[in-house]
Amino acid sequence: MKKESLTSKDEITPESIRPFRLVIFGASGDLTKRKLVPALFGLYHEGSLPEHFEIIGFARREKSDEQFREEMLEGINTFSRFKPVEEEEWSAFSKHISYHQGNFDEKDAYQSLATKLAKPIGDQEKSLNLFYLSTAPEFFVTCTRELSEVDCVGYGMDSRIVVEKPVGHDYDSAKELVNELQQCLDESSIYRIDHYLGKETVQNMLYFRFANSIFEPIWNSSMIDHIQITVAEEEGVGTRGGYYDGVGALRDMVQNHLMQLLTITAMEPPATLSSDSIRDEKVKVLRSIPTPETDYIVHNAIGAQYEGYRSEDRVDAKSTTETYVGLKLMIDNWRWAGVPFYLRTGKCMPVKASEIIVVFKRPPHALFHSVAGVNYLHRNRLHIRLQPDEGIHMAFAAKIPGKSAMDDVDMDFAYTSKFGSYSPEAYERLLNDFIIGDSTLFTRSDEVLEAWRITDAISTGLRRKNVELYRRGSWGPAACDQLLADAGNSWVKLLPRAKKC
Ligand code: BG6
Repeated sequence: MKKESLTSKDEITPESIRPFRLVIFGASGDLTKRKLVPALFGLYHEGSLPEHFEIIGFARREKSDEQFREEMLEGINTFSRFKPVEEEEWSAFSKHISYHQGNFDEKDAYQSLATKLAKPIGDQEKSLNLFYLSTAPEFFVTCTRELSEVDCVGYGMDSRIVVEKPVGHDYDSAKELVNELQQCLDESSIYRIDHYLGKETVQNMLYFRFANSIFEPIWNSSMIDHIQITVAEEEGVGTRGGYYDGVGALRDMVQNHLMQLLTITAMEPPATLSSDSIRDEKVKVLRSIPTPETDYIVHNAIGAQYEGYRSEDRVDAKSTTETYVGLKLMIDNWRWAGVPFYLRTGKCMPVKASEIIVVFKRPPHALFHSVAGVNYLHRNRLHIRLQPDEGIHMAFAAKIPGKSAMDDVDMDFAYTSKFGSYSPEAYERLLNDFIIGDSTLFTRSDEVLEAWRITDAISTGLRRKNVELYRRGSWGPAACDQLLADAGNSWVKLLPRAKKC
């Protein structure tokens, strides 16, 4: 099967991928079972992996290869699109999986791992060695240093690592982490994952904006009034209270996922499709956002907590952690001067949905102000629906036949109606790119640091205010509506769920 990369016109075939060994640190964790191994199975199923590869789970608990495989099978059967897995396919795939027991700071465990990794694979003397750090962040440096001590990673070596978010908890800690990792291996071998970049619809933003000629001329402050980015989640913190309470919505979602959506929406066309060209443009957007003053944040950002959050499992009974953030950011550059970007994300909201809504300016002359129907102050809107029911919708006013009246109509493109319901999981795409060495959809260190610069300032401003409460199943506190109302705007209703046939 031929694979096309976003960054390269070269065709990648399983035969052209080097035999690899992928070691997953923290293999007993949820992510491995729910996302990573199901995604690797998906790639295997699609025929995207080479003939020779090994997946090695590294974790503290004692268990046999067989036990580990059983757990992975349960994960695939529960969380993936392959339910149930065909026995024959599983049996062939599972032969590539094994388990390596060890503590993250135990030198012997790395030594024995290095011995395994040094063995020939297929007809190759050496495998390409890949490391996925799905551990608590405090182990990122330990694992990388230990790997470098046994010569599994290093400058100029044929190896790469992935680190999961969060990359630090503020600018200083992120900078320290960046420096420490870069002491062990070069930036081009460090892949920082933001799974939003693996979502098909997020990638499609680049195609939508830069493969069509009609949108770019209107994609600026002369035509666009403002942009709304909503990432709403229906569920609460569930079993992740212990992690979440020390992090909150700002660090969990805004610093990474929402900043990525913002940069992809606002970036300039890249000179080429190379990963650095694209990432350079994204960083430029972040650099164009001046560090918000505390006073600005006090007036233009809201942190809120859903009612009942403090009674969630492993959450402090007096917690002031925000589960919701709403804010207005301005990008000080030629294209976006004066165009507010409104961002909001929260848990326990009415639906799980992510949408970018571009609200265009009103017509310069209100010709139809006396015509019944949609408000004559009507503005065109473009809804880019990222999940679920992925698609793009254009809202405009049209005359109702037989009447001197208007209505709001919708021109829509749904991914499923054109391409069917199959959409690869974000982790499939990201693991595929990691294996073939394409870093476009991973965040570069300067991007991470710029995002932290802005996030730290938001956090300082939010700490000046009391965290508000909002009802479970609501769209957040009223203050967040006021944020838009002050500028004569309001949150646009998200698109309704598509009807199932
Ligand atoms: C993760 C956050 O990065 O993204 C979670 O840690 C959040 O708190 C999740 O629920 C949302 O991802 P998705 O793909 O379900 O929108």
